[in-house]
Amino acid sequence: MRTLILLGGLALAALMLAPPVLGASFFRSVADAEARKECGACHMPYPPALMPARSWEKIIGALPNHFGEDASLPEPTRLKILAYMTGNAGDAPKGNAWFMTRVKKADTPARITEMPFWRAIHGGFSPASFKRRGVKKPGNCLGCHG
Ligand code: HEC
Ligand code: HEC
Repeated sequence: MRTLILLGGLALAALMLAPPVLGASFFRSVADAEARKECGACHMPYPPALMPARSWEKIIGALPNHFGEDASLPEPTRLKILAYMTGNAGDAPKGNAWFMTRVKKADTPARITEMPFWRAIHGGFSPASFKRRGVKKPGNCLGCHG
């Protein structure tokens, strides 16, 4: 039993240590035209694999009060974007298990920058590195990954 737990721990550590190296094409991989347009109006459109489906449900279920802004959409557009984002979420069948590392079942992250994978990589960066010109916010992935 102990060996199993140890092996499980090692497998998890290996998963955290060996992220897939992502090119700019990943950060520009939002295939759905409406999601790209509507969710890219104020910031970069985020690839759905970065969060679990329940996070997208929460975000796209509360667009009139979206981080202090009104990002509401007509219902048919909202439903289409919701289907695309949840259908391609990190925990969807063709998702990305690595992004889901250490996300507790009971947790619904409200931001990508709250995801454990993101924190594991970027947690030690200086606040100044996120404020510099061309980046401005931690959530502006393309500022550094573009
Ligand atoms: C009216 C402008 C606006 C629109 C449209 C908009 N957002 Fe946002 N979004 C914001 C703001 C403002 C923030 C907070 C930025 C910050 O402070 O870091 C944000 C943050 C986010 C974050 C968190 C990023 C992080 O820091 O990890 C996600 C995820 C997100 N938006 C998804 C969406 C999705 C999905 C859509 C389309 C349905 C959308 N947004 C449309 C304004 C907008
Ligand atoms: C301030 C610059 C900066 C911002 C903003 C940033 N990253 Fe990164 N990110 C980096 C650097 C630098 C590395 C390489 C870290 C290393 O190798 O130790 C990295 C590594 C990664 C990796 C590991 C795989 C790879 O391609 O190297 C992922 C995944 C990742 N970032 C996702 C994101 C996402 C998603 C966002 C936006 C929500 C984001 N990052 C925002 C600088 C940034």
